[in-house]
Amino acid sequence: NPRARILSGMQPSADSLHLGNYLGALVQWRAMQEEYDAVYMIVDLHAITVPQDPGVLAQRTRVTAAQYLAGGIDVDKCTLFVQSHVPEHTQLAWVLNCLTGFGEASRMTQFKDKSLKQGSDTASVGLFTYPILQAADILLYQPEGVPVGEDQRQHVELSRDLAQRFNHRFGETFVVPQAFIQKESAKIQDLQNPAAKMSKSAESPNGLINLLDDPKVTAKRIKSAVTDDGTEIRYDKAEKPGVSNLLAIYSALSGKPIAAIEAEYQGKMYGHLKVDLADLVVSELAPIRARAQELLADPAELDRLLAVGAQKAREVAAVTLEEVYRKVGF
Ligand code: ADP
Ligand code: NA
Repeated sequence: NPRARILSGMQPSADSLHLGNYLGALVQWRAMQEEYDAVYMIVDLHAITVPQDPGVLAQRTRVTAAQYLAGGIDVDKCTLFVQSHVPEHTQLAWVLNCLTGFGEASRMTQFKDKSLKQGSDTASVGLFTYPILQAADILLYQPEGVPVGEDQRQHVELSRDLAQRFNHRFGETFVVPQAFIQKESAKIQDLQNPAAKMSKSAESPNGLINLLDDPKVTAKRIKSAVTDDGTEIRYDKAEKPGVSNLLAIYSALSGKPIAAIEAEYQGKMYGHLKVDLADLVVSELAPIRARAQELLADPAELDRLLAVGAQKAREVAAVTLEEVYRKVGF
C-alpha cells in the first residue's frame, strides 16, 4: 500500500526562518515525512515575481535549504528540491496559463493585495500568474494533499479547478488535490506586538526569534518580550496576549499542555517564565543553527543534496509533463 503523497513549498524570502516558520512549517513537515510520501520544494521561481537581488536570492535559497535540512528534513525520507532546478514547472505552467480565464486569474485576492503594495502598473505579470505556476508546482506531482495556511486556500482551489478542467477536456490525467489547512492555534505571535503574527515583515526585529540568530540575541529578545498588566501567568489570548504567546511557545517546544505550565508557574513572576523559556528556545535552536552553519560551510555537499532532490523530483514531474504534452497535441 503506497503512502499518500503530500506537497508543500516555502519561499526563499528571508535570511533566516523565524520561530513561526519553524513551528508552523518545519516541525510539521518533519512529522509528515514519516507518514507520507512528502515532496517539499523551495519555490525560487516565485521569489522573482517581485523585485529581487540575484546574489541575495541565491544565498537565501541555500540558507533556506540548510535550515530545513538542519531542522530534520531528511532527504532519504522525502523529496527536497529547488523549484528552478526542475524545468517541468514552467513548462506545465504555460499549458495551465492557456486554460485559465483572465477573469478567473483576476479574482485571486493575493495578487490584489500584493499589487496594491507595489502599484498595479509596476506589479509584474509574473505576480499576476503566480497562482497558475503554483498550480503547476502542485499538479506535476499528483499529490493527494497540500498542507497550507488559510491564506493559500484560494490557490489550492484554483489548482483543483485546473486539474478538473484539464481532466474534462483531455481525459483523466491529474489527481485533484485537497488543501490540508493548518490549525490557526499553531500560530506564533510577534514578541513586541503580540496582536500580530510573528512575520519576517515585522516592524521591529526584536519581535522575531530567528533560527540563525546568536543565542544571546534570542535570549535577550525573549526576556524583553511585551507582557501584560498584572502578574498572573495564565493563558488568555484576549486579556493577556503577550503571556499567552510565551505559554504557547513553551508548550509547543516542551510538549507540555498549557494547563500544566500554568500550574508549574503559579505564584511565580513573568521573569521566571521568560528565563526558562529563553533556555528552552536556545537549547532547541542551538543544534539546528550549528548544523545549518556546517551545511553552509560546505556548499558542495549542500548542492549535492539538492541535486539528488531535483533528480528525484524530475522522475515524477517528467512523467506528468510527458502525458500532458501528448494529450494537448505536442
Ligand atoms: P512570513 O509571515 O514570515 O512571511 P511565510 O508567509 O513565508 O512567513 O510563511 C512560511 C510558512 O511559515 C507557512 O507555512 C506559514 O504558515 C508558516 N508561518 C509563518 N508565520 C507563522 C507564525 N507566526 N506562526 C505559525 N506559522 C507561521
Ligand atoms: Na516520507
